[in-house]
Amino acid sequence: MKQSQTNLTTSLKDFLPTSSELSVGKFSLNQIEKLVSKTPFYAYDRQLIINRVSQLTKILPKEVSLHYAIKANPYPSLVQLMAAQVSGFDVASKKEMLLAMQTGMPVSKISFAGPGKTVEDIEAAIIAGVTLHVESEGEIAKIELAAKQLKLKANIAIRVNPQFELKSSGMKMSGGAKPFGIDEEKIPQVLKDLPLAQVNLRGFHIFAGSQNLNADAIISAQQQTFALAQQLIELANQLAKTKIAYLNIGGGFGVPYFANEQSLAVTLIAENLTALIKQYKTLVDGVELILELGRYLVAEAGIYVCKVVDIKVSRGTKYLVCDGGLHHHLANSGNFGQVIRKNYPLAIGNKLNGNELEQVNIVGPLCTPLDILADKIILPKAILGDYVVVFQSGAYGASASPKDFLSQPQLSEILL
Ligand SMILES: Cc1ncc(COP(=O)(O)O)c(C=O)c1O
Repeated sequence: MKQSQTNLTTSLKDFLPTSSELSVGKFSLNQIEKLVSKTPFYAYDRQLIINRVSQLTKILPKEVSLHYAIKANPYPSLVQLMAAQVSGFDVASKKEMLLAMQTGMPVSKISFAGPGKTVEDIEAAIIAGVTLHVESEGEIAKIELAAKQLKLKANIAIRVNPQFELKSSGMKMSGGAKPFGIDEEKIPQVLKDLPLAQVNLRGFHIFAGSQNLNADAIISAQQQTFALAQQLIELANQLAKTKIAYLNIGGGFGVPYFANEQSLAVTLIAENLTALIKQYKTLVDGVELILELGRYLVAEAGIYVCKVVDIKVSRGTKYLVCDGGLHHHLANSGNFGQVIRKNYPLAIGNKLNGNELEQVNIVGPLCTPLDILADKIILPKAILGDYVVVFQSGAYGASASPKDFLSQPQLSEILL
């Protein structure tokens, strides 16, 4: 109970309006509802995104280029906004690649990662000229064939699955057996076998994990990444006669979602990067260093809003039933990788100053016990038509949710 309120205050501050109703940009929830026609909707705050990127780029060493991983939020207007804020895009599908290209981002600044790329994906990436991050030896064979047939050279970077892992990470994506990247120990052979007539090896990609709030863990992974990169760059020189010009050091920066989680100490990470760049000066000279972030750039700039459509009491427990839920915001329901479900920060968006508090469970309209918006949360007393607002919802929200589940009405998105 106390937890929800503590967490709420932290997340609320960026959206705090002068009245008792939340606003995004200069629009109240009621106005936004009228703009998009109905609840539920996601609203993203343009200025908060701009601020987040500029605060980060200010502290990062100038040698580091910031790229946005579109998978975090592929809403087209948001991606277009991002094109003017960051130096490049990471895409995870052909559709994301086309979206990235259409923002005007130069193709040399677009990378395409992810296992299981189809021949169609590969051909499109070669034609476009984006950099394919290769995830397996089989993928290299497909790229070789496609490039031959297209009579074009493919730009590639080898995604490496290092021996180390990103500790304290919400999602570990390296170390041990993984479907992502090629195991570090296989790289010498892969370099020897590279079909250099068909591929232009630009560099390496080492992405260790996601949603990490522990600066020390990220710092340690970055130290290991630089050490490994040094070996890989030397190997590429010897075995593939290639001078590497591109090193993607991954990202993994997390955002606090739950009570007792603290914002990531990004200044420490930036300081460490500055030190690493100094330490590996010859390695970094002439190499484009890329930091690839998704959620850190957008998560805190987005809210999900739905409406209370029924209120009921079942054996002493009060339920607010809403017109939105799991099918629009899977992560908030606790079904997107969480081991134990916890409440996201949440508010009754039109009663921010309400002082008549009560404990409620908040659920969505789906006929499944998984459709939870909040469990045992203390909030101002709500009535039918009030807005339930979920904060920290700008990443892995709409696009990461099963929108067609139970054929409920679709949601809207808006960038303000
Ligand atoms: C290759 C790659 N890049 C970037 C990301 C984005 O991660 P995040 O949104 O946590 O920054 C992911 C997430 O899974 C990823 O797999």
